Amino acid sequence: MQTNIELQGLRVAVTGGTSGLGLALVRQLAAQGACVAFVARTAANVERIADETGAHGIVGDVGKKADIYPIALQVTASLGGLDVLINNASSLGPVPLALLADTECEELEMALAVNLVGAFPLTKALFGALAASAREGRGALVINISSDA
Ligand SMILES: NC(=O)c1ccc[n+]([C@@H]2O[C@H](COP(=O)([O-])OP(=O)(O)OC[C@H]3O[C@@H](n4cnc5c(N)ncnc54)[C@H](OP(=O)(O)O)[C@@H]3O)[C@@H](O)[C@H]2O)c1
Repeated sequence: MQTNIELQGLRVAVTGGTSGLGLALVRQLAAQGACVAFVARTAANVERIADETGAHGIVGDVGKKADIYPIALQVTASLGGLDVLINNASSLGPVPLALLADTECEELEMALAVNLVGAFPLTKALFGALAASAREGRGALVINISSDA
């Protein structure tokens, strides 16, 4: 990652941090001195990536409302606040995507809950921490990773 942004000490949370783009972000941000917390559902993968990168791993499901505040509390407790939230978690599954005719209704519901709606409650739960970051002049930022799918 080539960047002119100072990442040292930046407090960043990444959802879906154990695979694909999210994992690449966790690795690069941690390697460049950011304080990183990441979220995914599979505990074994969270533990493995936390061990590898030194980032704080959180086991949780951003598609489940009951998990949102526990995730948000672990993010702010582990990082001491939050400057950047990257909503990246995705349950779209393997590429190429299945045809709609071959997609179960439950799979579509889950994709909407995780990829679309899930970003909103977590951002809302972390809004106080992000507002504090903005007040401290640390440049609070929310990045939503989307998809043409
Ligand atoms: N790959 C592409 O071609 C492509 C194209 C355009 C846009 N995008 C977007 O880029 C982003 C990353 O895609 P990717 O392909 O790199 O993802 P990926 O490899 O499929 O990884 C998904 C990550 O999200 C986690 N995750 C899934 N459901 C979750 C949930 N309910 N709660 C918390 N974590 C969850 C997964 O871990 P667990 O399963 O253990 O939870 C994993 O860490 C997504 O937003 C996607 O829409 C991807």
